[in-house]
Amino acid sequence: MDFHFVFPRLAISNIQKTKEVDGIVAPLILSKKQINEVRNVFESEMALGLSKTPAKPSCLQMENTYIPELTDGSEQGEFLSLDLGGTNFRVIYLHLEPGKPADYLVKYYTVPEPLRLGKGEDLFDFLAECIYDFMKNNNLLEKKLPLGFCFSFPMVQKALDIGILVTWTKSFNCPDVVGKDAVEMLNNAIDKRGDTNVHVVAVVNDTTGTIMKGAYIDHKCAIGLILGTGCNACYLERIDRIEKWEGEHPGINEVVVDIEWGAFGDNGVLDFVKTEYDRAVDDQSLLVHSFTFEKLFAGKYIGELVRQVLVKLVSKSVLFNGQLPDPMSKNNSFTAADVSNIEGENSGFETTKSILQRLGVAKATDDDAAIVKYVCAIVTIRGAQLVSICLSSLLIRMDKPDVTIAIDGSLYKKHPKLHNLMTHFTSEMAPGKKFHLILAEDGSGKGAGLVAAVAVRLNKNKLNA
Ligand code: BGC
Repeated sequence: MDFHFVFPRLAISNIQKTKEVDGIVAPLILSKKQINEVRNVFESEMALGLSKTPAKPSCLQMENTYIPELTDGSEQGEFLSLDLGGTNFRVIYLHLEPGKPADYLVKYYTVPEPLRLGKGEDLFDFLAECIYDFMKNNNLLEKKLPLGFCFSFPMVQKALDIGILVTWTKSFNCPDVVGKDAVEMLNNAIDKRGDTNVHVVAVVNDTTGTIMKGAYIDHKCAIGLILGTGCNACYLERIDRIEKWEGEHPGINEVVVDIEWGAFGDNGVLDFVKTEYDRAVDDQSLLVHSFTFEKLFAGKYIGELVRQVLVKLVSKSVLFNGQLPDPMSKNNSFTAADVSNIEGENSGFETTKSILQRLGVAKATDDDAAIVKYVCAIVTIRGAQLVSICLSSLLIRMDKPDVTIAIDGSLYKKHPKLHNLMTHFTSEMAPGKKFHLILAEDGSGKGAGLVAAVAVRLNKNKLNA
């Protein structure tokens, strides 16, 4: 693998300071050897995850989603979808007619923290209440609608409409739901109210929704990636390579596999890239010692990661004259949006300085701002490289002539540099493989509706066969 990437340089004139900053960020710069090693462990963990009798447990779940086909554009009808996982909860109505652009209605709801961290039944009752509110406001109460439930957490799928929660991630932790079927809990909550005529036909991960939305836009789509609050991907895997899927699968050649790569490294295989900053981010996260990979760069963590480095720079008196202002000493005070805004500043330091002012740095110097900007760039580059290692492995593994990678998620959408960085690194790491990255806007939510539509079409085909 040849790398031709030129790392940004810290644009300050003080040579001593530059040296000190470079020393402090050095652990965040991946060497060629580390990149190759990450790729090797990713590939061996994927193989273990697909194996029927793995020599040791894999940290990659490699979950069969039971989706044997992506949309072919012939689906029609009215569908509902729910999207639970990231910052917002959404209810979506989708009307499909072949040959016409899809019609959507979307409403966002905020899930209050006590529901995100409380009793499962209360959370699902809230979801059912939102469905009712949405249907009432859009005059849909008279309709019988199949529903695709996008539940963006690791699940064991026993069928397209059974999803047993393995663990919560991101900002959710309702412990009594772990080990239960999210579909059953949602159906119970809907039935208990009895005021809507909705039934869940599919439960999907957001990556699966995204691959489906991608396929709706471009039939070459074979990978779905979420780069938002969390990070994960799914791809089309050949049936003969999914050893652990027992029994016959007549007429099925490929199936969407949800990798659950947010947990990549949870068994220690990525310890060699973890820095003191990563360990600090993990230590104060909601679910400690889990979801190693996504904590290295995903939206919920990237700001805090930058903050950890800045705190270290201040402690060495390289930044802000050695004074850490109170607001900045608080965990999570530096956000993914701050990283994106700072990375988007092309000249001068106006934006960076105003962010620093919000964080209590009354008079940041140009050198301070340049250092903060540099740290954001270094952390971003490492994130882009890590995602690209996995994407390039998938491209090589699938060996298709041309692959579209559908991406959704707030970090990817808002960060001004990720798209280009990932395109660059992925092409370097998968030489000769043709691919392109597309934004599958609202893939998680709208895609779940499309999965419901495909499920209904496949059921009809089965009945007519
Ligand atoms: C979850 C995945 C999800 C990803 C992106 C992770 O925390 O485990 O299921 O796809 O976040 O939302």
